[in-house]
Amino acid sequence: MPPKNIVLIGFMGAGKSMVSNRLASILKLGRVSTDELIEKKEKRAIPEIFRDSGEAYFRQLEETVVREVSALEGWVIDCGGGVVVNPKNLENLRKNGVLFYLKTSPEIVYKRIKNQTHRPLLQVQYPLEKIRELLRSREAFYAQADHVIDTDAHSVEDSAQAVLKILRHE
Ligand code: S3P
Repeated sequence: MPPKNIVLIGFMGAGKSMVSNRLASILKLGRVSTDELIEKKEKRAIPEIFRDSGEAYFRQLEETVVREVSALEGWVIDCGGGVVVNPKNLENLRKNGVLFYLKTSPEIVYKRIKNQTHRPLLQVQYPLEKIRELLRSREAFYAQADHVIDTDAHSVEDSAQAVLKILRHE
């Protein structure tokens, strides 16, 4: 059987980039990020894509990129926080991958992102409210992952080790 991809999903600020980097380095696997691929293809940053072309355009690009990375074998895939909302994305990612939901509470997300400016959906007057609302509306989608890793009280290393432990028992 071809090696499965390790797919990280979860809300913005859940630590998907750091945990995916750590996993790729421990397991000596390639790592790919849907956001980074989109930026590379578009030759512009995500805030610019949202500002100049709108969210719907971004979501189309995201669907294409998710389809492409889903065809890989044995990679660590770091997914943008919103990929789960499109059922086609989950279906594609699942074909070749084990899905891990890095779970975070709204308060921790807020703490982590409050001084950052690169997430257009959170550039609003009341970011914590927005985080709560988005998380609530996405929770059922994230819950479709094969495994849930609670990251609130855990370091990047702890979360990576939790993923490895599950993989060893798969
Ligand atoms: C988004 C999450 C971002 C990025 C875009 C939209 C979302 O990725 O794809 O800003 O809808 O949750 P991260 O989860 O890596 O921040």
